[in-house]
Amino acid sequence: MSTLDLFSPPDDVGPRDRLAQLHRELHYNAHLYYVLDAPQIPDAQYDLLFKELQALEAEHPDWVTPDSPTQRVGGKALDEFAPVRHVVPMLSIRTETDTESSGAENFDARVRRELELTEASAPIEYVAELKFDGLAINLRYERGVLVQAATRGDGETGEDVTQNIRTVGQIPLKILAPTLADARAALPLQGARFVFGRSGGETVDSSVASVAEVPDVIEVRGEVYMRRDDFDALNARQRDRIARGEKGEKTFVNPRNAAAGAVRQLDPAIAAQRPLSFFAYGVGEVSARPGELFATHMELLQTLKGWGFPVAEQVRVISGASGLVGYHRQIAQERDALPFDIDGVVYKVNSIALQQRLGFVTREPRWAVAHKYPAQEQLTTVLAIDVQVGRTGKLTPVAKLAPVFVGGVTVTNATLHNEDEARRKDVRIGDTVIVRRAGDVIPEVVSVLPEKRVADAAIFTMPHICPVCGSAAVREEGEADYRCTGGLFCSAQRKQAILHFAQRRAVEVEGLGDKLVEQLVDANVIRTLPDLYRLGLTALASLDRMAEKSAQNIVEALEKSKQTTLQRFVYGLGIRHVGEATAKELAKHFGKMDAIMDAPEDSLLGVNDIGPIVAKSIRTFFDQAHNREVVEQLRACGVTWEEGAAGSDAPKPLAGKTFVLTGTLPTLGRDAAKDLIESAGGKVSGSVSKKTNFVVAGTEAGSKLEKAVKLGVAVLDEPGLLEMLNGGT
Ligand code: IVH
Repeated sequence: MSTLDLFSPPDDVGPRDRLAQLHRELHYNAHLYYVLDAPQIPDAQYDLLFKELQALEAEHPDWVTPDSPTQRVGGKALDEFAPVRHVVPMLSIRTETDTESSGAENFDARVRRELELTEASAPIEYVAELKFDGLAINLRYERGVLVQAATRGDGETGEDVTQNIRTVGQIPLKILAPTLADARAALPLQGARFVFGRSGGETVDSSVASVAEVPDVIEVRGEVYMRRDDFDALNARQRDRIARGEKGEKTFVNPRNAAAGAVRQLDPAIAAQRPLSFFAYGVGEVSARPGELFATHMELLQTLKGWGFPVAEQVRVISGASGLVGYHRQIAQERDALPFDIDGVVYKVNSIALQQRLGFVTREPRWAVAHKYPAQEQLTTVLAIDVQVGRTGKLTPVAKLAPVFVGGVTVTNATLHNEDEARRKDVRIGDTVIVRRAGDVIPEVVSVLPEKRVADAAIFTMPHICPVCGSAAVREEGEADYRCTGGLFCSAQRKQAILHFAQRRAVEVEGLGDKLVEQLVDANVIRTLPDLYRLGLTALASLDRMAEKSAQNIVEALEKSKQTTLQRFVYGLGIRHVGEATAKELAKHFGKMDAIMDAPEDSLLGVNDIGPIVAKSIRTFFDQAHNREVVEQLRACGVTWEEGAAGSDAPKPLAGKTFVLTGTLPTLGRDAAKDLIESAGGKVSGSVSKKTNFVVAGTEAGSKLEKAVKLGVAVLDEPGLLEMLNGGT
């Protein structure tokens, strides 16, 4: 049916036919909108059709059926949920929490043993899926119409939550088989959306599979969950309600709790306001012979998808244990970027016949296993709230936690970011909190469990003096952070400033780590950056736990760091808002340190990517005599770099030349040599070929040097390179 004749139906369509037409069209467009996320008619047109159906139903109340699109919301609040006995029990699955490989390997080994396969027999075919972190639901369809939705309960008996489940737009009130098949024929471009599986490179595309007929009774099982963006929006709304003083409102701790709360909400009108989603992953009772509808689990999923149920696109057919290991690893990487929470992956034997042979142990099938990831959220208690001082004086409140294993590591600290965040979360000492660590992200306190708060726990306030040096800490208008005003008088800022200067991306002092810097600053051996270069072997060697050899290494590393580039030097100074990229632009634009130090704000604004805030910050930095003094003293200590001419007309003696670096150069670090070559217009490549112009070789140069000799490529040592940089050839 085209949309045109839908909006101006011919006169001879009777009201009954029109009703059927509206059902079909509204169901189909709801599917496009909620499941495929690809609406084809504007919302306003959908609303028009919906209103027309409502009007028709108002005229003919006896025509209202449970599968009518108007019946998603409605129904009265309940006192309790009716029990539902599951005809086919809702089993749980065995869980493996072992390492990446052993979880999958244990499972594969067990399956093969049960099936009495020998080592020589072919690998078993599995389906790997996501393990959604929501709650299991059983959807019962009779003659294609949703008649009941029930929770899992104890697996034997669940609760009737049909009214609430009807509000979930992604769950069909009526199975769409014929409509959807028609739609596909009419929409070849949408075919790509139906691609949902891969088996060893070959793509399974359910758009080409025929859509199976719907049996009289079929129970579709899957997970009701809440997307993370929907969860965040819901909590934001909840916070507004609390702020307006509405009674009985609360925020939710995570998407799973929010979803579970919505499904078990006695008032369906409230459930309807909680945005839920659904993924199908199996079936319960089916009025067909086993194996008649689908021979494999993948076919089952394909069929469900063809009937209009959402199936996750990450489903894969996989052969053998090693494939499962790869899947587990890949999903671990994609986990944080998914729009919803998962707590693991699930492996299932693909063949239904083999599933039947394997059967069950107690309440778990032998043909499926859940392979979990480390939980990303845990409960723990706050032992203290410290305030840390960063390089630029920023004060960060940090919760000290009772050690807890989360996201694969033991966490003892979690950032509270700043005053506003700390206040919003209202974390207090002694509180029980949820800590989250996702991927490599810094652990953070998600929320407090207020019901566990000890009486008279004091509200946290940001200190107005620096906890390290006692200088005033101020929060400027429009800023989120308090800053210590002590500058390099503050030992915390000093330590961070030195570490910043010594890091690999700045002047690089190898071996100068945080423990050593801490010792040096605390012992008052170093107060400013130039003090670093005044460190003698004796001073270093006299430090606690410092062996003579290590002291010697540091002295050498310091010596080596003196030869640097303008860009690295400027970056190393740690000017607020001046990162590596800005430092590079400054070096390129001005060419000389003095030109940068003296540049008025106007001319700083003329540099690529520098705006008013950065320009002001640079100017403020160099307007302070003590900062200029630091630069002078570093120069006096022998820190040097090539100075170039300003702007793009600086000579580029190495333009068009390709270099390969190999071995250890006597004074230049590898990064420094690369910077020098690049700033002179040359290119640095990783491997030697006929196109290489020069190989720069230091001590212990290996195969690259051999290759250069073989290909007749010119070989330079460090002095040779420096000479070229100065314009010699
Ligand atoms: S299959 C007989 N597949 O995990 C196998 N379960 O203990 C029945 N879950 O609460 C379950 N994602 O709700 C299966 N892709 C998935 C799943 C999944 C999440 C949940 C399920 C149940 C638990 C199994």
